[in-house]
Amino acid sequence: MKRVGVLGGGQLARMLALAGLPLDLRLRAWDPAADPPAAPVAEHVQGDWGDPAALERFLRGLDVATLELEGVPVATAEAVAARVPLCPSPRALAATRDRLEEKRLALAHGIATAPFAAVDDEAKLVAALHEVGLPAVLKRRTEGYDGRGQAVVRDAASALRAWRDLGGAPSVLEGFVAFEREVSIVAVRALDGRVAFYPVVENLHRDGILRRTIAPAPGVSAEIETAARDLAARLLEALGYVGVAAFELFEVGGRLLLNEIAPRVHNSGHWTIEGASTSQFENHLRAVTGLPLGSTEPLGFSAMCNLIGDVPDPAALLAIPGAHLHLYGKEPRAGRKIGHVTVRATDRDGLLDVLGRVERVIGGTA
Ligand SMILES: Nc1ncnc2c1ncn2[C@@H]1O[C@H](COP(=O)(O)OP(=O)(O)OP(=O)(O)O)[C@@H](O)[C@H]1O
Ligand SMILES: [Mg+2]
Repeated sequence: MKRVGVLGGGQLARMLALAGLPLDLRLRAWDPAADPPAAPVAEHVQGDWGDPAALERFLRGLDVATLELEGVPVATAEAVAARVPLCPSPRALAATRDRLEEKRLALAHGIATAPFAAVDDEAKLVAALHEVGLPAVLKRRTEGYDGRGQAVVRDAASALRAWRDLGGAPSVLEGFVAFEREVSIVAVRALDGRVAFYPVVENLHRDGILRRTIAPAPGVSAEIETAARDLAARLLEALGYVGVAAFELFEVGGRLLLNEIAPRVHNSGHWTIEGASTSQFENHLRAVTGLPLGSTEPLGFSAMCNLIGDVPDPAALLAIPGAHLHLYGKEPRAGRKIGHVTVRATDRDGLLDVLGRVERVIGGTA
């Protein structure tokens, strides 16, 4: 038995805890909330990120720690890492929780991104608009998720409004990418430096929130698959990273641009629970506890649909043969991810058929 601490107790910690049980890995989740999604399946330590008593409760008897949330302050990660191995490291967290640092890292390793410029005040915003051009997307450097903390800007006036709406927080302006599609790659790096990759998957977002993932992505060229693996491997290596990370990418004109790096298990990897030989959750735990990585081989064709806002009738979903329902135990609220459904098939046509049935129940993706 090993005790694994997780910074954050959301649905990702919940699914990590479920994956850990067969390996007798017991999870402890530190989360400021009173009853986070991981609470039913992990020991919950409640407290703010700066709370020294919570830190002590979290560390007691812990073998290794990890995180499921990049919003964790680097200072908290450092306090944990001073006492117990933390994978990924505070350095990897610092480089990926801040959109500007992340883009600088990509640049330093020759990995293409949208054009970008830092915005710290109104004068910098005006300069950034000239440098980056329009349309553009203004994003907070930290703490954005599911499309929150960002706005598309079409002219100088809307840029100024967006900047004020974001509270004047340190931000980055990036060029709007007219991508053909969004894809991502989930990779896992072991303690010994070995890296394994899940196949490139296709992601559909609406209003900045991931709606659906298709795995593997249809029609990925060998060049794109190799390019995705290559950039993921280079960044993981550069960060000395241990565990699962996801790389969100824009596919445009036969090239990939890096959108963002998630230093954790990722929504576009949820399909791996039923759709891959080893799930991203199990592989993350294997990596951080020093166990050999499991096969990332996909089992046929999978699709994952997020349940956003409210829960459709579970019976209607479960009446669809092969549909797997995952509910996170969260209160329904507009724009909130409260669960997901995964379907699997032996061929693409079969997948589209069953995916269509799921999407009719959850209200489609149009
Ligand atoms: N520069 C851009 N050009 C075009 N579309 C963009 C750009 N940046 C973001 N988007 C769209 O908005 C979505 C969310 O953006 P991003 O990934 O930066 O934010 P996020 O809030 O961290 O999202 P999540 O937490 O869901 O990954 C992207 O997946 C994409 O659909
Ligand atoms: Mg994103």
